[in-house]
Amino acid sequence: MKNILVTGGAGFIGSNFIRHMLEKHQEYKIINVDVLTYAGNLENLKGIANEQNYKFIKADIRDRKKIDDIFTTYNITTVVNFAAESHVDRSIEEPEVFLTTNIIGTQVLLDTAKKYWKVNPDDKYCKQYKPGVKFLQISTDEVYGALGSTGMFVEAMPLLPNSPYSASKASADLIVRAYHETYGMPVNITRCSNNYGPYQFPEKLIPLMINNCINNKDLPVYGDGMQVRDWLHVSDHCSAIDTVLHKGADGEIYNIGGNNEKTNIEIVKLIIKTLGKSEELIKYVKDRPGHDRRYAIDNSKITSQLGWAPAYTFEEGMKETIEWYLNNTDWIYNIVSGDYQMYYMKMYD
Ligand SMILES: NC(=O)c1ccc[n+]([C@@H]2O[C@H](COP(=O)([O-])OP(=O)(O)OC[C@H]3O[C@@H](n4cnc5c(N)ncnc54)[C@H](O)[C@@H]3O)[C@@H](O)[C@H]2O)c1
Repeated sequence: MKNILVTGGAGFIGSNFIRHMLEKHQEYKIINVDVLTYAGNLENLKGIANEQNYKFIKADIRDRKKIDDIFTTYNITTVVNFAAESHVDRSIEEPEVFLTTNIIGTQVLLDTAKKYWKVNPDDKYCKQYKPGVKFLQISTDEVYGALGSTGMFVEAMPLLPNSPYSASKASADLIVRAYHETYGMPVNITRCSNNYGPYQFPEKLIPLMINNCINNKDLPVYGDGMQVRDWLHVSDHCSAIDTVLHKGADGEIYNIGGNNEKTNIEIVKLIIKTLGKSEELIKYVKDRPGHDRRYAIDNSKITSQLGWAPAYTFEEGMKETIEWYLNNTDWIYNIVSGDYQMYYMKMYD
């Protein structure tokens, strides 16, 4: 049986991934470690809290002692590291926590994994690991920097991150790579494009626009709204991670993209149209400093080598996503009102 440590499992992608794994792989035990920042919400995992092969632990990935205890208690054999500060705007305001969580936190996890997984941890030349162990780092296409109007990101490109967020993620990728090169640790890094789907914190483009639109509030669009992103449905992302976990070759990096390049303004207009609102709600605001113009992912490595492909078209995915937010207004309300954080203060602090 694999005991999988999922970090950041109360966030958007992590919670979708835990649901995916519990549904597809009853033979695994999932240990979800999350410190519950503003972005962590246990409501995302409602209905599975008492499942036998699932355990939630409130802990900070920077807390070496706690992470060490978790490895011993649960005999961790796999790490899927989602835990991160993830919002670019916040990284521009307050970069430091991005560096400590995204870089140092990752290094603490790697160090602990090395200690427990190496066949002979006291021999610095030993590169032999227990069978079946793996460290999977969830990264982002933003580490590559920005593209012009043509071209796509491939895994071999140099890293040229532009925001404190993407710089912290790029640093973590390099540390993960170094643990493979220096210590022989079995690792994979995945770099995905922009995710969308259920349970995304309503500060990110799609849920923000849906929520504002439902409430007839202004729809703030950065600059001219012509920034291009590739969009990946979160369930496609989860199936890609599952594929890399099982089939990824040690030390390899895999791009994950949805083959859906869209401008931000196209997305905003699609949401307005689907919800039957007026484009007068759009409010162009001053562009974000250092705003990357275009990202596009070449996902041919994962599709040709591991046989993964996205299942959603953007149209289907958006229709379902908008419906989900319409049917889960309580979930959004609890976040926007801050009720879920009051609950944690009562329960966990
Ligand atoms: N959302 C996207 O479109 C996207 C795109 C590319 C890559 N990613 C990457 O995927 C991962 C997950 O993204 P997300 O959108 O689900 O993020 P999120 O912000 O929704 O969730 C992050 C989770 O990490 C937890 N966390 C933060 N700091 C922690 C710490 N020190 N210790 C333990 N837990 C901590 C938070 O409480 C939260 O539950 C991140 O690593 C992010 O960089 C996301």
